[in-house]
Parts: sequence; structure tokens; C-alpha cells
Amino acid sequence: MNNQEKKFYITTPIYYVTAKPHLGSLYSTLIADALARWNKLLGKKVFFLTGTDEHGQKIAQAAEKAGMAPKAFVDSFVPAYQDAWKQYEIEYSKFIRTTDPEHILAVQKWLEQLQTKGDIYKSVYTGWYCTSDETFVTESADAKVMAGQESSTNNLNAGPVCPSCGRPTQYLSEETYFFKLSAYQEKLLLFYQQNPDFIQPRERFAEVLNFVQAGLKDLSISRTTVSWGIPFPNDSKHVAYVWADALANYITAVGFNTPGSEKEFKFWWPADMQVLGKDIVRFHAVFWPAFLMASDLPMPKRLIVHGWIKMNQQKMSKSFGNVVDPIELGKKYGVEPVRYYLLRQLAITHDSEFDIADLEQRVSSDLANDLGNLLNRLVMLAEKYDAMILEASGPWSGPAVDLRDAGLTMIAQVKEYMNDALIHMALASVWTYINKVNAYFHAQEPWKVAKSNPIAFKEILTATAHALQLVGIVLWPIMPSKMEQLLSSLGVKLDVAHDLEKVELAPWKQKFVLMKIPVLFERPLDKESEKIMKQVQKEATLGHAEALAKAETTPLITIDDFLKVELCIGMIEHAEFVEKSDKLLKLQVDFGPKGKRQIFSGIRKHYAPEELIGKQGTFVFNLQPRKMMGSESHGMMLFAEDATGKLQIVAPRELVPNGTQLR
Ligand code: MSP
Repeated sequence: MNNQEKKFYITTPIYYVTAKPHLGSLYSTLIADALARWNKLLGKKVFFLTGTDEHGQKIAQAAEKAGMAPKAFVDSFVPAYQDAWKQYEIEYSKFIRTTDPEHILAVQKWLEQLQTKGDIYKSVYTGWYCTSDETFVTESADAKVMAGQESSTNNLNAGPVCPSCGRPTQYLSEETYFFKLSAYQEKLLLFYQQNPDFIQPRERFAEVLNFVQAGLKDLSISRTTVSWGIPFPNDSKHVAYVWADALANYITAVGFNTPGSEKEFKFWWPADMQVLGKDIVRFHAVFWPAFLMASDLPMPKRLIVHGWIKMNQQKMSKSFGNVVDPIELGKKYGVEPVRYYLLRQLAITHDSEFDIADLEQRVSSDLANDLGNLLNRLVMLAEKYDAMILEASGPWSGPAVDLRDAGLTMIAQVKEYMNDALIHMALASVWTYINKVNAYFHAQEPWKVAKSNPIAFKEILTATAHALQLVGIVLWPIMPSKMEQLLSSLGVKLDVAHDLEKVELAPWKQKFVLMKIPVLFERPLDKESEKIMKQVQKEATLGHAEALAKAETTPLITIDDFLKVELCIGMIEHAEFVEKSDKLLKLQVDFGPKGKRQIFSGIRKHYAPEELIGKQGTFVFNLQPRKMMGSESHGMMLFAEDATGKLQIVAPRELVPNGTQLR
């Protein structure tokens, strides 16, 4: 690795401090934290920057409304951000505030440099402004004039609505300094052409290209009617436009224009990844690169643009009153399960609705069942048969080698996905592997060979411990302290900068000294059952008579009738979508000695195929085969609908041999 490859500089947007952080603000920060930690695992030197955007009209107005001076107002909110990030284990290197004196001085110097270069000139701005987004709105390019209202200069609500937030804009006519953005149009287009990976996901490029190709106007970068901002150099009647001030944080934080910090700046800049929400792409993909070009500075390598968390179909935002408090959520479900849910359930490529039922499902199914239970079963079995010290004793048998190879493939996949910030995909790969480990553990039946073949028994346990170690390491960026606990239960102390490489290079030669630890993930079952209980109670109070009537309409059957139905436990080995069907998934199910079967199930809306692999379920085994979508289904999978409408798999609490008949 050369010097640049050895370092990883990642940033989040800096947050407007008009209120406490909500789940949407946490989301940008969490993505950056996971990527920063991942790069630590890759052995890189990491600088992770976050902070707060404290100047401008929006903050000034909020402070005035609260009857406070702007500085006292922002001071009162900053701790809420710092505390929330601490609670969520956000391991930033620096928290910048745009009111920091070093930042102010560096920005003033920078503006002066641009002025000297001739990229800034003074003129008059006439046009529309959105205070909520702190953005100048051009009527022609992208905004609609509010329906039914004539455009007239001094009517506050007669302008175009802001294309981003939909709020009315305000008419401005004031002396201002302009940045010669128009001079960078061609250079920007060339840059985009030469760097097609600049914006991830690539689909977000379209908006940026359209905007630039439509023609760039010079950008007003100072205000005279706002006083809460950085005074313009040599002209303190003006303050710097809040976005110019804010964007510059990415360079001032690592030493730009700070005497004595030249080496530091040269080492860290350009940023390797800049994380941001889709609402602020234009600022980062157009204005920011143009500012950097004007300053002869290198471009950030990649912008990671994520979608929105929505609630009731609308972007989660304080102004829509639909925010979820991350602190409260963390108290209820644990901080790390919330981290996992946000990074697994939501794809950065899309907007996603926040859904508590999905969160509960993820915690109980993925975390408590698939992962926590596996660790627990390993340690319990080792304890029972006095095998808390595990060491591979000889060459690995075939299934263990397969498990190791699958683990290394999983790491390779995770590396690729994390490199593109597709964290949800990386996690899907990890869970496919966890399901394989569960399937291995189950198929090897260590509880049976414990006495008859102690060598095989130790191999199964050791291979499982190795597999869990891989999982613990790759999941550390997502759930750091839980994974440290998991690893400590295997007797492993995580060495962040070296362990990933170590397990890749010298796989499966390790000694594990197992230790019992408290349950890793609690099922939110109590809450779930509380909810279900309430529902049941409600139904119960609907009336005993109604229930009786219902019972009477369902005819009673004899035990012989019941025995006609053969119910068996099977494990799903493979699952896939069925072409042209929005309901069906095609499953390959292993019924142990009874063989394997293809079974169709109408669960496409409830499960992604990869979630099912390695899961046991209950099946009607002697159902007449039925033709579905041109192929035969040999059985039926059973589900129970929960209080939220989701179909839950009906499975034994602990794994049982495949093909076990229910009785
Ligand atoms: N201050 C500017 C950024 C300046 S960066 C030089 C700003 N601040 S913000 O507080 O409004 O938003 C900060 C980040 O939070 C943005 O990336 C934004 O997309 C993200 N989110 C705010 N609400 C969100 C959701 N509901 N969902 C996902 N992210 C959202 O813009």
C-alpha cells in the first residue's frame, strides 16, 4: 500500500443544529461510522469527520424564535448530537463546528484567495431563496411557480417553491459576492465523464448532469441581510453564504489554511468517501467540486449518496413532525440492534419506510436466532462435554473445508460490497454465511458424535468457532461492542488493524478458549407478545359469544382425521424468485432421510430468498402435488401471521433433524 492507499478519510454532512438529532440524521453518521470501521479492519489509517453546521439564516431565525442569541442557541444543541453519537458508538476522529475559530479563519483566508484569483466578484443578486434549504432557487432551471400565484417581486409567497423541500421561497435583491460557477461548467462535465464512479450509486448522477448541462449561473456566496455567519474578508457588511462556509469544513478540519498543518492536510485530502443524503447532492457534486477546482485542490474520490428514511410515506424530518428519537429507540431495543437494522434493512440506493415490525423481526430472527443462538449452542455443547478449549487436531474433513472456503468467499464479497458502500448487500452475504454455518452445525450433529467420536466432535466445534470468528470480525463495523463480546466468548481479543488479514492469510489454525457470556441478543419477544397479548385481549373482550359462534362453525375432527396430515420439519437449502409471479418463491427443501423436495410458497412479499436459506420450517408433507407456474410443488410450508400481518415461519425453538415428523 502506498501512502494514499493506507489512509482513509471519510466525512458526514455537518448537521443543522435547530433540534436534537433524529433517526435520519443518525443514518448518514452511521453509514460513515460503519465504513470508517471497515477501513480500520483493512489496516488503514482512518480519519472520520463529522460535526455541526451552525451559521445562516435558518439557524438565526430558529434562535430568534427561541428568544436566544444564535451562539447560545447552537451551544445548547451541540451536546445532544455529541451524546447521541457517543451512545451509538460513533467513533469519529473530529467533531467540527463551523463556529470554531480555526474554521472561521481558514474560510476567510480561502475566500480571499479566490478573490485574488479572480473567481469572486461583487454584483447584485435578484432572485428567490429557500431559507429551509439555504439555497438559491432558479425559476427556470428547476422550480415551479406556486400554483395560482402570480410572480411579483415583494410578495414572500409568490415565488417558485423550493424544488427540494417544496416550501415557498423568498424574494431577494441585494448586493452580493458571486463565485464564477459558470466558468467551471465544461470542466465539471469533463470531470464527470472521466470519473463515472464519482457518485455512488451511479443513478444519482443523472440529476447532477442535467443540472450542469442546463447551464450554470454564477453563485451568490455572500449575504448582507443575514448577520449570523462568517464575515467576508475585508468587507464585513457581508457574511459568507452558509453552504460555502459549510462545505469548506471538509478541508479546514484536516488543516487547510491552518498554519503548521500543511503536512496533515496533504496527507488526508482528498477525502476518500463523503457520505450525504440525496437532498444535498447538488451542493456536493456541483458547487463543491467547482470550489475545489478554483482552489486547485484535488477532488474527493467518491460521494456516497443515500436515500431517505421515511415515516408515513414522507421524509423523516422535524418540520413534518414524523421523527423517531434514536435515543429512545436504543433504550428499547439496544443500540447495536438499531445500528444493524438501519444498515441491513435500508438500502442506501432507495428511500425506505421506517417500520418497527421490521426492526423487531430483524432482531429476533437474524440476531437472536441465527447468530446469538449459534454461539450459545456452541458454548453450551462445549461446556457439556468438557471441550471449552478447542484446537484443530488434524487435517480438516470435507464439510469443514467447505465451511472455511465459504467463509473466505464471504469475506471477498463483503470487501467488494463495502468498497461500494453497499452495506446492506454486505450484510446479506454475511447472513447467507451464518445460515450455512447453522446448516453445517446441524447437519454434523455434534451432540450425537460427542461420545462416539470425540475427534469429530472437536472438529465440528472448532470449525464452528472459526466460522463465528470470521463473522465476529466482519460484523465489528456494524455492531462493535456486541462483536467484541462474541469474540471474547471465543477467547479472542480483536486486533482491529490486523485480524481480517490474519484470518484470510492463515485460516483456521487457531486455538479457542471458550467462555460463557450473557445472552448476546435478547428477542424483543416480550414486547411482541405484549402487543399480541393486547390484541388477543381486545379480541377476547369482543365477546365470548362471538368466539363460541366461531368455534361452532369450525367442525370438530377426530384424531384419525388429524393423523391423515403428515407434518414434517424441513430445512430450506435454496430459495429463488419465480418469474412473472409477485407472490411465489420456489424453495428446495431438505427432509433428511425423506429426501429433498421442490415446494412453492406465496411469501415473496414477506421474505427475500437469501433470508430463508438454512432455515427450518414446518411443511405439509403429504399434500397432493400441484402444478404452479409450469412446475410442480410437492408440499406446503406453514406460517403464522403475526399482529403486523407478517408471515412468521413456524419452526422448532431448537434445530431438530430434517424430516422429523410432528406429533
Ligand atoms: N447542513 C447541511 C449539510 C451541510 S454539509 C456541508 C444539511 N444538514 S441537515 O441536518 O439538514 O442534514 C444532514 C444530513 O442528514 C443529510 O445527509 C440529510 O440527507 C440527512 N437526513 C436528514 N433527514 C433524513 C432522513 N429522513 N433520512 C435520511 N437522511 C436524512 O443538509
